[in-house]
Amino acid sequence: MNRHFAKLGDVWKHLLLAEVLRLNPPLRYWETHAGSATYPLNENSPRLHGALRFLSHAHTESQLARCAYLQVLRTMPGTYPGSSLLAIRVLGKNASYVFCDIDPDSSRSLREVATDLDVRVIAQDGVSTIAREAEFATFDPSGVLVHIDPFEPHERMAPDSMTPVELAASLARKGFRIFYWYGYDEVAKRGWARSEISSLAPGVDLWCGDVLIPAPFVYPERSGVWGCGVVLANMTPEEVAACSILGHALERVSADDMLKENDPPRLTFGVI
Ligand SMILES: C[S@@+](CC[C@H](N)C(=O)[O-])C[C@H]1O[C@@H](n2cnc3c(N)ncnc32)[C@H](O)[C@@H]1O
Repeated sequence: MNRHFAKLGDVWKHLLLAEVLRLNPPLRYWETHAGSATYPLNENSPRLHGALRFLSHAHTESQLARCAYLQVLRTMPGTYPGSSLLAIRVLGKNASYVFCDIDPDSSRSLREVATDLDVRVIAQDGVSTIAREAEFATFDPSGVLVHIDPFEPHERMAPDSMTPVELAASLARKGFRIFYWYGYDEVAKRGWARSEISSLAPGVDLWCGDVLIPAPFVYPERSGVWGCGVVLANMTPEEVAACSILGHALERVSADDMLKENDPPRLTFGVI
């Protein structure tokens, strides 16, 4: 269960995820921390700066108006899709899926939406499960997109298991396509996941798109900065170009969502 569903962190993650999947559909989609299939999209302040604002403003920017994320959102008014359902909606029957989540309610909801698809829902630690899947895979890793979206990027669930960041680097080195989401709450940490993954996987092609956000847009009780980003590994130039275009478009559409007394006052996008 994703407590932060439909906030700006989800908007940035899901905007890029849906586009990458549409542009370059993988044969296999694996997710370590899948969350629930759907969430009720009722109003609160973070969602009014997040998915609800995106829904009402995206049409004003041509690149956002035709993006895959908006198209999926529009098919399910009043409901917010988790990343797993978003992937299903974009890829459909053309892919197989492995979804991991240790929360019984989340894994139940994933099984319910997956009845006529090639889906395995595994209610166990996603990092060790996906590491195992990769270890025994006999197919081309470039046909698999692995989405790693942890709350705790450095958590080691067992002494002999990897952390989510280590998993990202290890699979990137083997040639799997990686979609890694990270968050932070200090400007100095902007892009931290890119540097950590890059130091563990030197020479692997990485791209990192980062959004710096007024913290109150995501956590109304805080002030100052909050930010998040997506690190892609083994992506195509077309994916990178599309993600950058979407980042700039999100920055433009957010320009008048301002909090003058906060530093930063508005969302800014950067490629790290
Ligand atoms: C941020 S949410 C996932 C959101 C989802 N990826 C999305 O974008 O809609 C994190 C999820 O990770 C699950 N989780 C936490 N620790 C886990 C672990 N070790 N293995 C698998 N799932 C885990 C939680 O139950 C929660 O549903």
